[in-house]
Amino acid sequence: MTGQEAAEGGAGSAAASVVFRDVTKRYPGADSDAVSGLSLEVPAGEICVLVGPSGCGKTTAMRMVNRTVEITSGEIEIGGTPVTETSPAELRREIGYVIQQIGLFPHRTIAQNIATVPSLLGWDRQRTRDRVDELLELISLPAEVADRYPSQLSGGQQQRVGVARALAADPPVMLMDEPFGAIDPINRERIQNEFLRLQAEIRKTVLFVTHDIDEAIKMGDRIAVLREGGRLAQFATPAELLMDPADEFVEDFVGADRALKRLALMRVSDIDLWEAPLAFAGQDTAEVRAKLAGAEVPWALLVDAGRKPIGWLSERDLAAGTVPERPGISPDPILDRDDVLRDALSDLLQSQTHYAPVVDAAGATTGILSLDVISDFLASDEAKVEEHAAADRPLA
Ligand SMILES: Nc1ncnc2c1ncn2[C@@H]1O[C@H](COP(=O)(O)OP(=O)(O)OP(=O)(O)O)[C@@H](O)[C@H]1O
Ligand SMILES: [Mg+2]
Repeated sequence: MTGQEAAEGGAGSAAASVVFRDVTKRYPGADSDAVSGLSLEVPAGEICVLVGPSGCGKTTAMRMVNRTVEITSGEIEIGGTPVTETSPAELRREIGYVIQQIGLFPHRTIAQNIATVPSLLGWDRQRTRDRVDELLELISLPAEVADRYPSQLSGGQQQRVGVARALAADPPVMLMDEPFGAIDPINRERIQNEFLRLQAEIRKTVLFVTHDIDEAIKMGDRIAVLREGGRLAQFATPAELLMDPADEFVEDFVGADRALKRLALMRVSDIDLWEAPLAFAGQDTAEVRAKLAGAEVPWALLVDAGRKPIGWLSERDLAAGTVPERPGISPDPILDRDDVLRDALSDLLQSQTHYAPVVDAAGATTGILSLDVISDFLASDEAKVEEHAAADRPLA
């Protein structure tokens, strides 16, 4: 929504914090709690992921925020106001809600679906239409889908419309219950990335439910791991969760490959690289050999005048008196300082050398990444890792 609309007193508003204070839900007739004594604070503008096994109370916890499920005891506050002070009908208009089965109305057009809440709020036709256009652009769908029906869109497109509909009245809080669960893995990854980019712009407070820990780590600024009975097992940043699971339950849930997951949170630039023994064409090979004597990597890297990698120099390349122009070993993969460390590792594992030059934005060599560098790093002082990782949002 525009600033002018805000000034006119539209429904939209800045993101608001969401606070659970000792919240319990027991469904009528149940002999145990669905959610038990849940306390957590989600700062305004952050994504908090609720994750845990089936039946652990994720949906229940989320639905108490918009009062589609009533709280048994405790309190939830949005922007400092207890939800019980606002009527359920009003809350449902004010809070964006995306559900797993997308839940678009099949007999309404995409435009009408997106305009659901604006219609309830009595926006005039022009304002509604402008907002629909704006949202279609935001979710990267062409304007002409506005007049189609949900069945005429792919599953991923429908899901994006679901997100647009939830955003229509520019709500301060979004509830997303396994929003991408029904989408195939490839499109799922795309829509996750798309949502993270969108969120970087709109900065909503988002409660996001998933049972997929990888999705939680990718999407969450913070993650609440729930165990059966809706009890909080751990509330932490993705990096903290991977570094320091609170107990065996969380450790099992996060999985044995958490070291690898940790790499997904970091960039190549977060790690101390080996110094590259550089060589230039025409240089005396004796000089290069001398340089190699003190190097961690067994080969010298031939670079051009701009320090761009050309290739690794083999023994045979160094047998002559001067460095040749065309070295025997390909420099690939060449990694970028901004590459995600996990992707860099996978490139390294597929490479011939298990060493890779790392270049800066200008393509100039800044160091060498190797499997040894990564395994030393994983074995190194965990606190240091945490400091690096905690400074970083999960990567798109
Ligand atoms: N309307 C209801 N009436 C009675 N019990 C319910 C109701 N809804 C959920 N429950 C129970 O509350 C518990 C938590 O359910 P909830 O749907 O919140 O779990 P969940 O973590 O979202 O599970 P899933 O991952 O399968 O979606 C379950 O034991 C469930 O059977
Ligand atoms: Mg659920």
